[in-house]
Amino acid sequence: MDTLIIDRHDIRRLVDSVGLDTLMRELITRLKTSFASFQSGDISTPARSGCSYHRPQLGLVEWMPAMQTGGPVCVKIVGYHPSNPSTLNLPTILSTTSLYDTRTGHLLGLADATFLTALRTGAASAVATSWLAQEDSKVLGLIGCGAQAVTQAHAISLALPKLQEILFFDTDSSTMTSLPARLAPLRLKASAKAAALDQLMPKADILCTATSVDVAGGPVFTEGTEKSSLHINAVGSDFPGKTEVPLALLRRARVCPDFRDQAIAEGECQQLRPDEIGVDLATIAGNPEDFAHYRDEQTVFDSTGWAVEDLAAMEMVMGYAEELQLGQRVELESVFEDPMNPYEFDAPAPLIAHASSF
Ligand SMILES: NC(=O)c1ccc[n+]([C@@H]2O[C@H](COP(=O)([O-])OP(=O)(O)OC[C@H]3O[C@@H](n4cnc5c(N)ncnc54)[C@H](O)[C@@H]3O)[C@@H](O)[C@H]2O)c1
Repeated sequence: MDTLIIDRHDIRRLVDSVGLDTLMRELITRLKTSFASFQSGDISTPARSGCSYHRPQLGLVEWMPAMQTGGPVCVKIVGYHPSNPSTLNLPTILSTTSLYDTRTGHLLGLADATFLTALRTGAASAVATSWLAQEDSKVLGLIGCGAQAVTQAHAISLALPKLQEILFFDTDSSTMTSLPARLAPLRLKASAKAAALDQLMPKADILCTATSVDVAGGPVFTEGTEKSSLHINAVGSDFPGKTEVPLALLRRARVCPDFRDQAIAEGECQQLRPDEIGVDLATIAGNPEDFAHYRDEQTVFDSTGWAVEDLAAMEMVMGYAEELQLGQRVELESVFEDPMNPYEFDAPAPLIAHASSF
């Protein structure tokens, strides 16, 4: 009855052993399977919920559940605090994921999910890109150069081997200028260059918006593309009132949400009437070839971040942890010989004596 704790040092050892490209490729493959499993009813995701607040910082802590039928339950807890990088030198997204045994409720594993969230968000965009974008796309535009931009660039480079150039823009100049150094260890084939929006937009074949734009602060770009087959991964719209893509573009594009109900509440789909929203990713996963003609049109992946992705990422990491003997096993839950006696401690006498002094 122990719990496997996978901390950031274990994640580092995992990356050193397996490699970022292998991890990202494997997660892309796993997500395609997981999306299809959702479609066939093998995975369910109750609505996520959370606490949002304005003090002491503007922020949010939310919980995202997913269950594999007959398998484990995964709950990711994620914090969103956009002032973290500038005020505390911490990531905007801080997260942990837990996995529960549905035979007993026992906590099987608890893992860092700051890395996993970035990895799976990149992987989800790669899946959408591989199904909805032109395969010979050459220019990726990144709007927002923070943590998610790194894994967007990584994942999309793996999905589109013909990618030649990454143009990037951020309203914060220091974040913008630091992006090449953060991408350098990935040794991407595509060159990366800062660009103003009016240079980036007409050239981009693929666009990823991953900004911390304020509620009601969007869109993060205006029109500026005449391309008939642009694909957008809209990653930063994941909260009521927070959107990144201009309404007119959404209206003429095929908008494919990750999880439709969540996207209507928190994603770009907030801006659309139900009949303007296209098929979701799970439907496409059932038979991607049926939707291949979308590649010739403008498409938007409305990525709000889906618990199915967290379950897939957590199962991948738990598997590697077993294989590579990563993590620390702790006996976290109180489990006694007599399951009816929660007071069955090794040495109850001092506790009782302590209590009697009140
Ligand atoms: N869809 C998902 O699954 C998913 C997962 C993780 C994060 N997110 C969202 O993605 C967004 C980015 O997350 P992050 O971890 O990269 O945050 P981050 O703070 O590391 O980076 C966000 C960047 O956006 C920039 N920015 C803000 N407004 C902008 C604008 N109008 N134009 C251009 N740049 C702008 C900021 O300067 C900052 O550098 C957040 O909104 C987060 O909630 C979504």
